[in-house]
Amino acid sequence: MVSKKIQIGLIGLGDMGLGHMECLKLFPHVAVVALCDSDKKRLKTASGRLKKPAKLFSSYQKLLAEKDLEAVFVSLPNFLHAPVGLAVLKSGKHLFLEKPLAHTVADAKKLLATAKKSDLIFQVGHVYRHSPFFQTMANRVAADAIGKPVLIWCHEFRQPFPQRDWFYDRKKSGGTFIEKNCHHFDLFNWFANDRPKQVCAFADLRVLKSGTKISCSYCPDGPKVLKKNNTIDNGWAMVEYRHGAKANLGLCMFVRPPREIWRGLELGIIGSNGKILIGNVDFGVMTLYGGSKKEEQMKIKNPHEGKWHSGMVEEHEAFLHAIRKGKKSLKSVQTAYDAVVLGAGAEQSAKKGKIILV
Ligand SMILES: NC(=O)c1ccc[n+]([C@@H]2O[C@H](COP(=O)([O-])OP(=O)(O)OC[C@H]3O[C@@H](n4cnc5c(N)ncnc54)[C@H](O)[C@@H]3O)[C@@H](O)[C@H]2O)c1
Repeated sequence: MVSKKIQIGLIGLGDMGLGHMECLKLFPHVAVVALCDSDKKRLKTASGRLKKPAKLFSSYQKLLAEKDLEAVFVSLPNFLHAPVGLAVLKSGKHLFLEKPLAHTVADAKKLLATAKKSDLIFQVGHVYRHSPFFQTMANRVAADAIGKPVLIWCHEFRQPFPQRDWFYDRKKSGGTFIEKNCHHFDLFNWFANDRPKQVCAFADLRVLKSGTKISCSYCPDGPKVLKKNNTIDNGWAMVEYRHGAKANLGLCMFVRPPREIWRGLELGIIGSNGKILIGNVDFGVMTLYGGSKKEEQMKIKNPHEGKWHSGMVEEHEAFLHAIRKGKKSLKSVQTAYDAVVLGAGAEQSAKKGKIILV
């Protein structure tokens, strides 16, 4: 029996949308049949990369009126996640929505409430949840390798965002702690395996001020002078969990040279048995320090190294599998919501100089 291909549409064909489109080519049981972007050039670039022509739309409402479409990938600027995500669900199509769930807690709440009532598959692009590296790390923690997590930290020291205006507008992105660090707050929640109690942050804009020339190595646009930037470009955020674990996030958005990430993304955990587990997803190395054993170092290779971000192929597999099997789960939306709550708390704390109760 020849089974029908899953008919997919993509809304938003910038860096991430194009990445999703390319990655979907790995799956023979998928047909990309519709594309939408308000920018004609991006729409043309994307359609030119498909082997079979897709229907092209500049309005997402028109794409959603396509009856045969089963699932939609939304990779739009964050302030459009809620209105477009809700419209996708209303049209009866499965939804893959890029992270963060939304740029504000209010919008994230609307999406979570709708997801609870819907039978559709709804997955958020928290790619690290699907990364074999972080899954191995989570399994080690769950298997009691370090006892109970007590101190957790994460260092995201990187180059600027792509040189597109919405990233640098807090009203559109939600701010850097939401746009970028929803990933890291989600990792904290995952590894602490607990609910956060409070969050505080010290952060400001030091370097990437209006008038600064910026470039990002993975964005195809040329260097650009920032007209406006009201987001933070550096800071520390701290989270306390209900059962006492404490997590610390370091953020820097102006590390040079842009093509080299300082030591990669480092995530460390000190447990109640005195051992330390440190993972560096970019180098694929995880190390367990302490105890009577000699230091244990594990290499966890991304099976798609060099081609795809750790977890990207796997997140597509999970979404497509859920559609095929009709396996609805609220987990992805719930955890994405929790990450927005922490990101918003950190943004608010930095702005108001107060500890925010979660
Ligand atoms: N999971 C990850 O690791 C990861 C990495 C990068 C970006 N992202 C997320 O992906 C999303 C997109 O980021 P990006 O880097 O691709 O941004 P981008 O600016 O490169 O792309 C956004 C695209 O949306 C289009 N667009 C804007 N408004 C539209 C509208 N009303 N209708 C149709 N198209 C419209 C733009 O023309 C552009 O092509 C963001 O939410 C970002 O946070 C996730």
